[in-house]
Order: sequence, then structure tokens, then C-alpha cells
Amino acid sequence: MKKRNILGLTTSGHGFSAALCVEGKIVAANSLERLSRKKYDILLPISKTDLNTFGWNDNPAIYKQHIDLPFDLEKDYSEVDFGKLEGFRRLMDHVLNAAGIGLDDIDCVAYSYRHNGNVKRFFEERIPGAEFIVPEHHLSHACQAFLPSPFEEAAVMVLDGQGVPMKRTGYDQLSGCLAQGSGNRIETIVEFPVSASLGGLYAEVTRLCGFQTNEEGKTMGLAPYGTPKIYEQVKGEIRLGEGAGLRLRDLKRLFSPGDRPKEKLYSLGNCMGFLQKFEPRQKDEPFSDDHKDLAFMAQQIVEDVMIYLAKWLREKTGSKNLCIAGGVGLNCVANFKVLDNSGFDSIFVYPSASDNGLAVGQALYIHNLVDGFERAYRTTHDYMGAPYTETDIRKAVESCREDADVVITEFREMKPLYGTMAQAIETGKITSWWQGRSEFGPRALGNRSILADPRDPDMKDVLNSRVKFRESYRPFTPSVLAERAGEFFELNTPSPFMLLAPGVKPGKENVIPAVTHVDNTARVQTVTRDVNERYYDLIREFEIHTGIPMVLNTSFSIAGEPIVESPQDAVRCFLSTGIDVLGLDRFFIEKRTPE
Ligand SMILES: [Fe+2]
Repeated sequence: MKKRNILGLTTSGHGFSAALCVEGKIVAANSLERLSRKKYDILLPISKTDLNTFGWNDNPAIYKQHIDLPFDLEKDYSEVDFGKLEGFRRLMDHVLNAAGIGLDDIDCVAYSYRHNGNVKRFFEERIPGAEFIVPEHHLSHACQAFLPSPFEEAAVMVLDGQGVPMKRTGYDQLSGCLAQGSGNRIETIVEFPVSASLGGLYAEVTRLCGFQTNEEGKTMGLAPYGTPKIYEQVKGEIRLGEGAGLRLRDLKRLFSPGDRPKEKLYSLGNCMGFLQKFEPRQKDEPFSDDHKDLAFMAQQIVEDVMIYLAKWLREKTGSKNLCIAGGVGLNCVANFKVLDNSGFDSIFVYPSASDNGLAVGQALYIHNLVDGFERAYRTTHDYMGAPYTETDIRKAVESCREDADVVITEFREMKPLYGTMAQAIETGKITSWWQGRSEFGPRALGNRSILADPRDPDMKDVLNSRVKFRESYRPFTPSVLAERAGEFFELNTPSPFMLLAPGVKPGKENVIPAVTHVDNTARVQTVTRDVNERYYDLIREFEIHTGIPMVLNTSFSIAGEPIVESPQDAVRCFLSTGIDVLGLDRFFIEKRTPE
């Protein structure tokens, strides 16, 4: 059988993404938000058709009240021609261009969640003969977790908010599963009903803390400021253990005889009901003790359950390797505690762990599980966006020259540029760094990053006030040369995608205060030269200047906006904020009058 060109397409409340699998390898992936410049862009508002898809028909008003995404329950979008939607066309062009193939070259489309009818019609009209497959949501997450991992075999943990109602579960939704992967096979061991949704619990606490949908990362940052007070009140609701909280309804509806093992493993009891007594924080209102304690509680429960499940999986599968995906997998604090406490030697968390990364999971599902090919792809980096030409870059540089009072230097060689950048960082300048292809996942990993000096105790406040315009309590990340990470962090495993948050070693907190969180952890990115030569060499240069083998890294964006994508986006963000310096490919651009 020929290796098919597979397009993975996914849209949920988290965004709209596409990935291309060519010759069994993921060669391109990106999300609509980066191209449309609208954060969490879901293409079309949540409509009546979506209520069916999500299983929300019972009481749409509740969802509307709890989820701040665009809703339009009056209009029927099921007949909308996606060929006429600019955002959809741009996303298609972007990934096809990055993969170097045309629309006609696609053999198979794996799509999911919303707009299945529209997507099918779009491709049927344009690519006769292409096959359409709608893989199961959590199996696709398991594929996303395991198939691109470095492991030949591994235990797999998938946890999120909710999937889609399925016939085989009596039209119940799931909120996760545990599985085992080996070669190109994945076996589901146990599935979790939506009543046990860790993602749902975390999302609700996120709302109560006054954050918006998809801003769970803010709750994670707030959690260490809280106390265990609320957690102590609610923890009796949480049951851990085989058969815990098993209800007849779940047995009947979820686990039909012979379908799946009947362990339920954990239950959240009436946690959600308990939350009803709290009022959501209003925008711009200060955090009350309750809000901080709620964040603490959600984080603690997620950690308790994940550690329990990981230990159970370790014993059940005998594997030493753990793969994680689903939105909860973006919780780098919990991921590290799982690794530290469950007996696994190695962990892999797919960098785009939430629903956006399903585009990749679905495409690999087709290639490896349906078509049966051996795994030929391993995720070693996350730079999956389309490349830009020298003309694109020069055009952006020229527009910068026209629009602002800047000094522009073009470097023939990169090495002197690293020296100039390192010196700018060392002297307290806020710098930005745009290079190569964009990151697919939510973390900037050195191609679309704002960089600053991790040694400066005031740098957090400076960045927040001059550039990011974001909440002061949120931590910034260190990007550290991989071979030196152990000197600064309690970390003896790679963390290339910023999805582990180990402790900062005693005595080092004061050396790198700008990247040490209030609980003395840091969301580390380990950088190796084979994965990102330019970023590695820049950090190395900073190390030569200062003795510190890391820089502070935060995404090249301002609050409320997606990470910059094109060189033009980079110039725009640079000029509209207090960033002093832009390293754009071979160009070093500095504002003449720093703000
Ligand atoms: Fe999901």
C-alpha cells in the first residue's frame, strides 16, 4: 500500500488547527489563530449544530454562561461553504505550502469535532477519491501522546475537558483514558466519564478566578499563592482506587459488557456542586483569598489524581515510559510531580498537548493504526509552521525602517549577531527573537520569543509593564543549555517543550530570580544544538558573556494576542510595545530612542 498524504484537521473550543502527514512524517502544522491574529480563533461561532456535536442540547444557556467563546444559536452554519472562508483557505494554503504539496495531493482527511459536514463537502468537491475518517477523540489524543514519542513502548495518559458523545458509550462524553502503546498499536485500558473531568473542574475554577476560557495556565500560575483551606474542605469528595465512585449509571451507559474493563479508578464526587457557592471574580477585581485557594485546590486535585493514575498505569503496564496528552497535559507543574512520584523513568508530553494537537494525532492514527505502517516519525522539535522567504523578511525589515526610528544592521554571519544580541540582553534590554518556522504548540520555544536577562530581579515587572501587559504573578520561563540544566534545576531528564516545572536548586533562586516562581519552581525549556542551532548558539553566547547558561524566554506576543507568526507580525509587535531590540533572521533592529 502506498503511503498516503494525510491532512489532520481539528476544531474544538480551543481553536482550529491543521497538520499534514507526508511519507508517514508530520511535515507541517499550524493553528488558525496565528494566521488570523485572533486568539483561540474557532473559525465560526458555536452554533446549534455544534450543540449536537458537543452533546450540549440539554441546556445551552449554561454553556453560554460558562464559556466565553463566540456563540450564535440563531444561525445555521452547516451549509457554509468553507471555500469562501478566508481563514480556512489561509490555514490550508499555509500547511500545504509548508509541506510543499497541493490540495490535489491529499489522499485522506482525518477530521473531528465541529463542522464535519462542511469539511467533508469542501474536500469532496475538490478532491474526488479522497477518504474521510472521523477518529475517536480520546483515541486520537492517545495517538498524539504516543505515536510521535521517542518510545518503542509506553503507558499513555489522556486527560481533558470532554470529548464528543459516541454511540458506543450511550452518547455519553468521555474526559480521558489510560492506554498502552507498543510499536504501531495502542490499546485502551480504561476510559473516564465526563463526570470525572479534570479539565472540566480546572476550567470551572479558571472561570471563578476571573480568567477566560482557555486561560487555565493563569490558574496554574496563581495556585501557589493559595492555601490548602478549600482543598481540605473538598478533598473528601475525591475517591481514588479501583471501583472508586462507581455508579450503576456509569456501568450501564459507559462500560457495556465486554467493552472495557470496569475500573473507574477515580471519582470527583460532588466537587463541581461544591464550587457553586463561590462567586466569580470580576475583571480587574483583586484576587480574594478564596480565588487563590480555589486555584490551589484545583491544582492539588489534578496532581493527586494524575499521580494516582500514573502509579496505577506503571503497575498495570510494567512500562518505564509515560506519554501524556489532552489539555490537562499542558499542566507542566503536575507533569513534573507525576514524573517525580510515579516510578516512570521517562516522560513525553506532546508539545501541542490539547485539542489543537489532535490534528497531528488524527493524521498519525490513520498512517500507523489504520494503514498499519511502522512508526517513522518522532517529534524532536515543534517548529512546524511554514517557512518564510528572504523577500518576506526583507519586506518586513523595510516596513520597519519606514515606520519607526530604528537602527538596522544586517549580519552576513550569525555568530556576531548572537554576540550583539547577548550583549543587549546582558545590558537589560528587552529583546525579541524571530527565526525560522513557528512553534505549533502554545509555548514559544526560541523561534518566536521575547528574551531577557534571567538574573535581573526587576525583569518580571519590567516585562509585564512594558511589553506583556499581563498579570504580575505569572512566572517567566528559563531556556537553558540542556547540558547545564542540572546545575540549576532539580531535573535529570530533557524538557525540550517547556512541559515540566522542576524545583530551582537551593541557592540558585537568587542567581536567576526573574525565572523562579514564588514556589521556587521554574518551567524549564532545555535547549540542544541539534534541535535549534540558532537559539542554542545565542544562549551559549550569553553564557560566555555572563556565566549563566540560560535566558528568560516568554512568547513573542502581548496579552490577548496570539504569538507572532510572520516577520511582519514580529515587526508590528516590536513597534507597538516597549521591546528594545528585534533579532529578525539576520537583522538586528534597535529602536533609536528606547522607551
Ligand atoms: Fe480533547
